[in-house]
Amino acid sequence: MSYSNISFEAGHDGVAIVTVNRPDKLNALNRDTMGELSDAFTRVRDHAAIRGLIVTGAGEKAFVAGADIKELAALSAAEAQQLSQRGQAIFRALETTPKPSVAAINGFALGGGLELAMSCTIRVAAPEAKFGQPEVKLGILPGYGGTQRLPRLVGRGRALDLLISGEMIDSAEAHRIGLVNYIAPRQELLAFSRAWLHKVMANGPQATALAMEAVDIGLDCGLDQGLRFEAAAFGLTAATEDRHEGTRAFLEKRKPAFAGK
Ligand code: COA
Repeated sequence: MSYSNISFEAGHDGVAIVTVNRPDKLNALNRDTMGELSDAFTRVRDHAAIRGLIVTGAGEKAFVAGADIKELAALSAAEAQQLSQRGQAIFRALETTPKPSVAAINGFALGGGLELAMSCTIRVAAPEAKFGQPEVKLGILPGYGGTQRLPRLVGRGRALDLLISGEMIDSAEAHRIGLVNYIAPRQELLAFSRAWLHKVMANGPQATALAMEAVDIGLDCGLDQGLRFEAAAFGLTAATEDRHEGTRAFLEKRKPAFAGK
């Protein structure tokens, strides 16, 4: 698939960068852009050479300023529900990809933009970035997972505050409430995100994928079931060459070289 609303760059270091590229519309997510993001996320999941992903926005002002309001304005009820389900599926595919992803938030992360960022493994933001779920100001509510992921990340009270006031917060506040993991100067966002991915990619890939899956599953089920999954995953890692390599490297006082097997 060729892209006209995003760019896709796969580096030799195993890090892919997906940039939403409609800066004149503050990178708003129209139907075509969502289709291209879906294709890009599938590439990231399926290509073994890609081991980590950075998602960012083009231009000076925005990461992504939301779903495209022009398109939203014309939808019937059934079309709106379908649009929501499609967007949810695309972001869920990103979230459940067994490879780490970083949202490098260079400016406004509003509505669908914040929902995209929340579907990444972690979020790194420039100090001047702004965050919000302003949908209620348009008479609608978030449709790409905002009502579900925001409380999971920041807690019920803070999520409801953002979701029903529709107000924006700055990076410092987003960091304080745990919505953002790190703040880095705008010029260093990509380098910081890449360095974080390199740290994760130096670890056992199966172990990191299973840890991510354990958190995902555990947040959706009770403690007992979550613990059962953890124990099964722990058992699985014990059967890998990487477990052998990781523990032996420690005992031999050297760095491990994981093969992902
Ligand atoms: N959908 C479609 N177009 C959007 C958009 C969106 N979510 N967000 C911004 N744009 C467009 C604007 O319409 C404008 O296009 P134009 O030049 O053709 O008129 C362009 O992007 C620049 O935006 P503008 O509003 O002029 O920039 P600003 O600096 O004055 O304000 C924001 C920035 C982010 C505060 C403002 O654009 C905004 O509130 N956007 C909508 C945010 C939102 O409600 N998102 C949730 C959608 S469900």
